[in-house]
Amino acid sequence: MGLNRKDLLGLQDLSAEEIELILDTAVPMKDILGREIKKVPTLRGKVVATLFYEPSTRTRTSFELAAKYMGADTMSLAVSTSSVQKGESFRDTAETIEVMGVDTIILRHSASGSAQYLANIVKASVINGGDGTHEHPTQALLDMFTIREKRGGFKGLKVVILGDILHSRVARSNIWGLAKMGAEVCVVGPPTLMPPDIEKMGVKVFYQVEEALKDADVINVLRLQLERQQKGLFPTVREYHQLYGLTPERLKLASRDVLILHPGPMNRGVEIDPEVADGPQASIVDQVANGVAVRMALLYLLMEGGAFSAVVS
Ligand code: CP
Repeated sequence: MGLNRKDLLGLQDLSAEEIELILDTAVPMKDILGREIKKVPTLRGKVVATLFYEPSTRTRTSFELAAKYMGADTMSLAVSTSSVQKGESFRDTAETIEVMGVDTIILRHSASGSAQYLANIVKASVINGGDGTHEHPTQALLDMFTIREKRGGFKGLKVVILGDILHSRVARSNIWGLAKMGAEVCVVGPPTLMPPDIEKMGVKVFYQVEEALKDADVINVLRLQLERQQKGLFPTVREYHQLYGLTPERLKLASRDVLILHPGPMNRGVEIDPEVADGPQASIVDQVANGVAVRMALLYLLMEGGAFSAVVS
């Protein structure tokens, strides 16, 4: 069984069964990463391109490595040194890449909906690597893989998403995915960084961090997206830390074995204290490693489908 779809644009339109299939497929992929020779020929002859209009370390490189470990060829368009700088349109850029024989395009763009737009104009598969404030589905999938790996499942877990919910595509994808898998999802942050009508996504909303963290099983700390802030949403970074930063003291309110996640990159000392980020409850490094396995699974399921046995041989 594969994913019966051309593109992966978000978790809103993915079923619980599809999410489970991706997470299940990532398990043998992680085994491949543990081998001395981490390479299988499954996607030999396929071409994966990354098209990133915004900066990235984790998403772009892990997709490139995932494709290489699966035997595919990769191409990374450096937008900052491309003909985009001469004014070439998004559509012309995408079509130019596609006719060179690309099978899958990973897109990151500042405009919400850009991945859907691209998927409508190219025959290649499109994977959303983060579009504006809309979705970042592969980040949520790797977060969910890490939660499932550490806690065994989602049902009955209280997952608290802490911080700048308003600007966070990571928050939105996590909410869609976790709610579908049966977790209790809570969001907490300043009122000015909380989207209106967020309750309609099926989450509990808090503005007091101490109240939200009580008995939390998982805390997913969001990066304060300084590059997307308008003036006046919060007084100072220092005050943000005082009111909403995840400190060792606040951590004591959560479950004893609480799992700490952060999508990265971190603003240490702002949304999360270094003692927490580097402490025993944090799985932030595991998230990055799991991201490669999850992206291998996704590339495989979109480009090949088929049974797991074909992957690992
Ligand atoms: N989490 C995340 O998307 O990180 P990058 O911006 O480094 O890709």
